[in-house]
Amino acid sequence: MEVIIENDAAAVAELAAHIIGELVRRKPDATLGLATGSTPVETYKALIKLHRETQLSFKNISTFNLDEYIGIAEDNAQSYRSFMQNKLFESIDIDVSRTYFPRCESDQNPAVAGLAYEHIISEVGGIDLQILGIGSNGHIGFNEPTSSFASKTRVKTLTPSTIADNSRLFADDEFQPHLAMTMGIATILATGKILLLATGRHKAQAVRDAVEGALSAICPASSLQLHQNAVLIVDSQAASKLKHTQYYQWARKENQIIKDKFGYFPSLGN
Ligand code: F6R
Repeated sequence: MEVIIENDAAAVAELAAHIIGELVRRKPDATLGLATGSTPVETYKALIKLHRETQLSFKNISTFNLDEYIGIAEDNAQSYRSFMQNKLFESIDIDVSRTYFPRCESDQNPAVAGLAYEHIISEVGGIDLQILGIGSNGHIGFNEPTSSFASKTRVKTLTPSTIADNSRLFADDEFQPHLAMTMGIATILATGKILLLATGRHKAQAVRDAVEGALSAICPASSLQLHQNAVLIVDSQAASKLKHTQYYQWARKENQIIKDKFGYFPSLGN
C-alpha cells in the first residue's frame, strides 16, 4: 500500500480530487467507484471546483456506488442516490443514466440484485478507480468485520457499531435501516486503483489495523494489502497510530522523483 499523510482533511480532499481529475482527463469515459459518508464530501467539493474552474468534464464517465440501504426508497433524502445527487451529481455534467447503485427493494431477492450489480460492473469493463472511506470498525463499503475477502455484491446486516456511528445522520423518529446492499471485498479488490480516504482521530485505530495489522476478516480494510494499486490518503490525526510514518513520508518523496522522471505509473509505492 502507498500511504500518503497530509496535514489536514482539506489537503486529503485536494490530493484525492487531483488524482481522480487526472484519471478522468486521461480517460474521459472512465468508470469510478464512489463512496458516501462524511469523508469524501470535501473531495466531491474539490471535484466540483475542478469542473467549474478547469472545465473537467464528467459527461462520459460511469459511476458505481459502493452501497445502498435496503428499506429506503430511492427518492428518500436518506438514500445514497439522494446523497450523491446532492453532494456531486447535480453540480457536474454527469449523465445520471450511467450512475449505478446496488439497489434492492424490500420484496426483491438480494442474491438476484447482487448478481445483477456485478453483471453491470463487468459489462462496462470494470471499475478504473474506487474511492473508499473506512468505518471506525475497519469496514469498507458495508463489508463489516468478518466479511469474506471473496465476497461479491450482497446484502449485509450492519453491526451495532456502524448503526451507532451513522445514527448522527438520522432524526430520532426517523427509520434507520440495519440492512444494506454492498459491493463485496472481492468486487473492491477487482478495481484498477483504490483511494482510501481517512480523516480524524476516530479513524486512527482502523487505519493502523488496515495498514500495519495482520490480514484478517476482522478488519475488512486490511484486505487492501492484497491490492496492487491501493493508496491510502490520510490526515495526520488518522495517521496518529501508524508506526512507520517516517518511512511513508520518505517513500512518498522517492516516488515523486520517479513519477517526475517517468510520468504516470499505476502501481508505484505498493
Ligand atoms: C459509504 C461507505 C462506508 C463509509 C464509512 C466511513 O458508502 O461505504 O464504508 O465510507 O462508514 O464513513 P464516514 O466517512 O462517514 O466516516
